[in-house]
Amino acid sequence: MSYGRLCTLFYDTDKPAPPPKELDFYTRFLGSASAAGTILEPMCGSGRFLVPLLRLGYDVHGFDRSASMIDACTNRLRSAGHPPNRVQVAGLTEYNAAAVFDRAIIPAGSFSLLAEDQDVQTSLHRLRGLLKPGGQLCLEICTLGDSAPSAGEGQRSLAIGEGKTIVLTTKSHWDAERSVEVVACTYQVIRKGEILTKESERIEVRLWRVADFKMLVPAFGLRVVDCNEGDFGDSRAALTLTPSMA
Ligand SMILES: C[S@@+](CC[C@H](N)C(=O)[O-])C[C@H]1O[C@@H](n2cnc3c(N)ncnc32)[C@H](O)[C@@H]1O
Repeated sequence: MSYGRLCTLFYDTDKPAPPPKELDFYTRFLGSASAAGTILEPMCGSGRFLVPLLRLGYDVHGFDRSASMIDACTNRLRSAGHPPNRVQVAGLTEYNAAAVFDRAIIPAGSFSLLAEDQDVQTSLHRLRGLLKPGGQLCLEICTLGDSAPSAGEGQRSLAIGEGKTIVLTTKSHWDAERSVEVVACTYQVIRKGEILTKESERIEVRLWRVADFKMLVPAFGLRVVDCNEGDFGDSRAALTLTPSMA
């Protein structure tokens, strides 16, 4: 299980709000709230983008595989005065919606968390099925630079109140065969040197060559209509896709 309770706590403490440049990018993609129609945010996490978009008047629905992230999202929705039933726990490879959508967004490089070919393919197939004819999906992938990422270790600490600190320790290596960065993460909540809780998980991030991703999508009835590389740092690309039969 990834994106568990301590991971969610760390994520929300570290990244409580969307970067303004990225929120601005997605609002430009969506167009005016009154004309945007219904919007889906797969992999919505704790609602870092979803809730501000609702506040701006967009009709956004979301889902995420992590129950902890969806718990945090429903809390955020309630605090902002929105009903929590806009979001649900579901994986991208299984999600079945009763409706189809005008627009969909997957920000923050999350699509790269699908590391296996089979999951990428099933997800593109499902996403195609979730769009209305003429609908558009904007998703971000993490990209491979000139050199492969090197193995490394890291540690970060964040204060979470009541004298407690959450510490994230990471150890990563590069799986060149799968083009995947594998990161072993350990989260510990510490007070006065005592470990109160601990959680370990493994995250895999697929790094794409943009040309390879572009070549993949037509097989799933999707066409690339736009591609922004490096807008949010040089390791991500945002692609806008539309059903090719529209
Ligand atoms: C980096 S977080 C980003 C969340 C949100 N977009 C944001 O920017 O705050 C990635 C999210 O993707 C979710 N996720 C990973 N794999 C998934 C899958 N196969 N189906 C649905 N959600 C998934 C994780 O649970 C996590 O909440």
